[in-house]
Amino acid sequence: MITKTRCFWVSKDDQENVVRRHVEVDVEALAADHVRIRVSYSSLNYKDALAATGHPGVARQLPIIPGIDAAGTVLDGGDTNFRSGQEVMVVHPLFGTEVNGGYSEVVQVPSSWVRPLPEQLSARDAMAIGTAGFTAAQSVVELERHSIKPDDGPIVVSGATGGVGSCAVKLLSRLGFEVFAVTGKQEQAEWLKNLGASEVIGRSEVNDLTNRPLLSARWAGAIDTVGGGVLTTILRSAKPYSCVTACGLVGGTDLRLTVYPFILRGVTLQGIDAANISEARRGAIWSRIAGDLSFGDLSPLISEIDSNGLDDAIETMLAGKTRGRVVIKM
Ligand SMILES: NC(=O)c1ccc[n+]([C@@H]2O[C@H](COP(=O)([O-])OP(=O)(O)OC[C@H]3O[C@@H](n4cnc5c(N)ncnc54)[C@H](OP(=O)(O)O)[C@@H]3O)[C@@H](O)[C@H]2O)c1
Repeated sequence: MITKTRCFWVSKDDQENVVRRHVEVDVEALAADHVRIRVSYSSLNYKDALAATGHPGVARQLPIIPGIDAAGTVLDGGDTNFRSGQEVMVVHPLFGTEVNGGYSEVVQVPSSWVRPLPEQLSARDAMAIGTAGFTAAQSVVELERHSIKPDDGPIVVSGATGGVGSCAVKLLSRLGFEVFAVTGKQEQAEWLKNLGASEVIGRSEVNDLTNRPLLSARWAGAIDTVGGGVLTTILRSAKPYSCVTACGLVGGTDLRLTVYPFILRGVTLQGIDAANISEARRGAIWSRIAGDLSFGDLSPLISEIDSNGLDDAIETMLAGKTRGRVVIKM
């Protein structure tokens, strides 16, 4: 009988400073319609790094155990349809933000937040993909929905060495697209090319500081993960009837634009919100990830740490220095 769980705890000290430590907490009695899971793997997403700083827009309560992704084995399915030993993952917008998340050996969540792990994926693979990989897949699906095809021209991916960006580079290249990877880490150019990028370009090359409403049209599509000046530049250099997806804000939240990309080139700006996508669409995208939208060999993307390495990994991510996906063995 499990009575305690070790977890990564974010709280405030007496001086109101946010502190992070590893603690043991009691495992509560299993509530009705809840599932108790032994977490084998979690992952680090930008949202987790923000939650670990106590960012009020992400960590809606303190103390909190961050971790928006978790995969593992059912310990107790209670009165639900889940059975002990079943391999599962947890996906829900409140997990790791409003309620305790996956950086814990044991979690208890409502059954509606639990999905059986796709047969084709191990818990480690599912977490290597995690929210970042799902977001990349959702972005690719949006390009498809706008009928963007490899023959239409190159796709640009910003924040290319980050979690979402690197997953997008891999997925797009596997689908036969010519991928231009935008990065602030030129030293990772070879790694990006091995992931499938055709060209690697520096971030400053895709951050036009002029006020020109339109730039020469280059991109048939784009997966932007950084926002700000990079997204503005991409939109102004998007080809007629291209689609640009936007999911991130690490490069800024402002969009200084005119309407010209939309009314003179028919460009679509497609927002991506992986957290609040409908369950039906979420299920359909995970099915595709386990099928025709597979990531193939995930190992080049993965850096594996244990929970003791979380603090350093969070600082690295906040400094914009993460490469690929950080998987946490709990
Ligand atoms: N909307 C959604 O549903 C959703 C879901 C998942 C993630 N997100 C967002 O997507 C973004 C990426 O998440 P992630 O988990 O992939 O984070 P990540 O692994 O930390 O990747 C972010 C990457 O952005 C680049 N970058 C960092 N600072 C930058 C700056 N000041 N200007 C321009 N680029 C910068 C870096 O890549 P390079 O050095 O290669 O340029 C960095 O590795 C975050 O904003 C996150 O909140 C949104």
